[in-house]
Amino acid sequence: MRTLHTVAELRAELRAARAEGRTIGLVPTMGAFHAGHVSLMERARAETDVVVVSLFVNPTQFGAGEDLAAYPRDEARDAEIAAAAGVDVLFAPPAEEVYPHGFQTTVAVGELAQPLEGAHRPGHFDGVATVVVKLLNMVGPDVAFFGQKDAQQALVVRRVVRDLDIPARIEVCPTVREPDGLAMSSRNAYLAPAERERAVALRRALDAAEQAVAAGERDAAAVATAARAAMEPYGVEPEYLALVAADTLAPVDRIEQEVLVALAARVGPARLIDNTILQTNGRP
Ligand code: PAJ
Repeated sequence: MRTLHTVAELRAELRAARAEGRTIGLVPTMGAFHAGHVSLMERARAETDVVVVSLFVNPTQFGAGEDLAAYPRDEARDAEIAAAAGVDVLFAPPAEEVYPHGFQTTVAVGELAQPLEGAHRPGHFDGVATVVVKLLNMVGPDVAFFGQKDAQQALVVRRVVRDLDIPARIEVCPTVREPDGLAMSSRNAYLAPAERERAVALRRALDAAEQAVAAGERDAAAVATAARAAMEPYGVEPEYLALVAADTLAPVDRIEQEVLVALAARVGPARLIDNTILQTNGRP
């Protein structure tokens, strides 16, 4: 595996591969790798010839007072994990390479970026969309891989790629979880042991929503109430817990088509998110 830090080096490295007709896969990340990231790398390894992983803690997607400074960074450890996953190129640019002096262009996303995370993190998705478009332009992948863990991000990225005619296919991969159900996240590192135990509340809320629907409940408010109740024993309050159409993120009253349950909650110093898609398997 090669670690590269500039766009010029990256383009030079990929030119030959592209000329030989080899396909390129991109996994954009902010590092602090865990099994969720590795699952995307393995999927890219299986589906494309040259696997590029970008490692960049993107400052423009963090709000004032968020965890940009505290975000875990360990490039040497990440390089070992990426190499073991069969990654060909780790692209780890410094901030000046991505946002050179005088930078002043932003990709602004409409309705899909407004609810859920967008409502609680103003400007977040413009930061994500801007850096993802830049990374897609730097690498020029045939396929780029994202996680369902960040469901709204995946929808926003698909929308941007379609709206701006970017010639990459977007693949969304399932959420990888700890044995107790907690979704893997770089931010789980912020949790002290007692907080780590309480953090399972998010997954328990999603379990309760799934169980309510499996038992025949189709009223969205009732499903949301069951999900909230499941968090109470852990002393965790959702920042939001919403049932929305899985494709548009518009609020729903009934569980009919695919419904996304998305939630965010603070546990100690960590702000965690999780989601599931409710399946009715065609039953009314
Ligand atoms: P980061 O949080 O590092 O996540 C990188 C990719 O890994 C994202 O596509 C995310 O959805 C996926 N991922 C995270 N946890 C996962 C899990 N438990 N299971 C499966 N996939 C998981 O998301 C970002 O970085 C940034 O916003 C980025 C897209 C890189 C733009 O800066």
